[in-house]
Amino acid sequence: MLKKNTITLKDNSTGKEIELPILRPSEGTPTIDVRSLYRELGYFTYDPGFLSTASCRSSITFMDGENGILRYRGYSIEELAAKSTFLETCYLLMYGDLPNQDELKEFDVIITHHTILHEAFKRFYSGFRRDAHPMAIMVGVVGALSAFYQEENDVHDPNCRLISAHRLISKMPTIAAWSYRYAHGLPFMYPKNSLDYSSNFLYMMFATPAEDYTPDPVMVKALDLLLILHADHEQNASTSTVRLTGSSEANPFAAVAAGIASLWGPAHGGANEAVIRMLMDIIESGKDVQHYIDRAKDKTDRFRLMGFGHRVYKNYDPRARIIRKVCHDLLKNLGANNEYQQLFDLSVQLEEIALKDEYFISRNLYPNVDFYSGVILLAMGIPLNMFTVIFALARTVGWITHWDEMMQDPESRIGRPRQLYSGELTRKYVKLEKR
Ligand code: SDX
Repeated sequence: MLKKNTITLKDNSTGKEIELPILRPSEGTPTIDVRSLYRELGYFTYDPGFLSTASCRSSITFMDGENGILRYRGYSIEELAAKSTFLETCYLLMYGDLPNQDELKEFDVIITHHTILHEAFKRFYSGFRRDAHPMAIMVGVVGALSAFYQEENDVHDPNCRLISAHRLISKMPTIAAWSYRYAHGLPFMYPKNSLDYSSNFLYMMFATPAEDYTPDPVMVKALDLLLILHADHEQNASTSTVRLTGSSEANPFAAVAAGIASLWGPAHGGANEAVIRMLMDIIESGKDVQHYIDRAKDKTDRFRLMGFGHRVYKNYDPRARIIRKVCHDLLKNLGANNEYQQLFDLSVQLEEIALKDEYFISRNLYPNVDFYSGVILLAMGIPLNMFTVIFALARTVGWITHWDEMMQDPESRIGRPRQLYSGELTRKYVKLEKR
């Protein structure tokens, strides 16, 4: 009778065999539990980039890369994008279920009433040059939050973890909007409790003390949708960074600041900004699209088709499909001669050519979440260097929910990977005069 839930590993150099447990997921790829491997067989596993390695057990988000499926707590991203709001999605991710009306109202009141920053935060901004990248400001200011909440920073106390989560979700729009205002020499706008989450952010970004300002409801809806689509994505680089940082029992503000730093990279959350810069370069160069497709395929050229490819999705990123439709409708709403249409049309052309090209097809390279999102953000009046800030604003709920799940996980321990050492063998020290 075959044992169904183990895998036999035989070391052919010694003939020794061990049985490793197979851990079955509720859905998706089963995993081999290798925790006893070193003790029983004296080996590490080698997996740079963690292509085949599960770092944890999680019930927050499910992704099926082969079929382009994304679900938050079991709800499809398509349904949440069509029917939910970002605040409701935050509740779903944090608490595991959709809220009823009273729960959502209570959550809304909590989040709305934590949006104000300590006045001393204003001085942090004035320490930066005006041309500082807003992500540099975000890393600094979010990390500094830990200096203002020292009394509630017991990471093993669920109440401290909850208030920190509320504070981060509430304050990120204020911190983000102020980084924009500072860069443009504009007065900081305080949040208004009468506005919903996304309206409040656009208000703090674009309002002026000199007159009343009401955010465009079309833009508010588009932003709220983008925030839903960016809220979580399983164990991506920045979420894994938050988990690894938090595994040392560092405070959640420091862990999220580390996540912001990781997200900033153009291979990750910085790709939305890099896509628009790529499109603008293509337009400015006057060269045809095929020239850039050929560059993306040329191994001697560092150029990549930004917004294309994904570690997990080997099919169309479901978020990109939704964003492309929203982008198309938004630009239609702006009228035919809007200044962003050329960027969108170029994106569609790039996609069409790439998806017929053997290089992209054979490597399962499709548009990802970043390929079309930048055009929407530009149409909202959001400047290029704020794109990844918006991504960080949305992903904060995912980061803090994974951090909280890790802090409750009895199997969780400090993250400390091993290595395949390739350095020198023992050497004797030689005196300077003898070298
Ligand atoms: C995000 O992990 C997440 O979930 C991230 C994210 C989230 O919500 O948190 O989804 C957000 O980060 C989306 C990805 C944004 N990044 C980009 O758009 C940058 C461009 N894409 C790539 O750099 C790349 O596709 C990655 C980083 C996204 C994925 O890299 P992998 O999984 O390590 O794949 P790889 O680099 O090993 O590529 C496999 C092959 C290679 O060619 P070969 O060695 O097989 O010949 O595909 C090629 C790569 O050269 N390739 C590309 C390419 N992406 C991969 N070639 C040209 N253009 C590209 N964009």
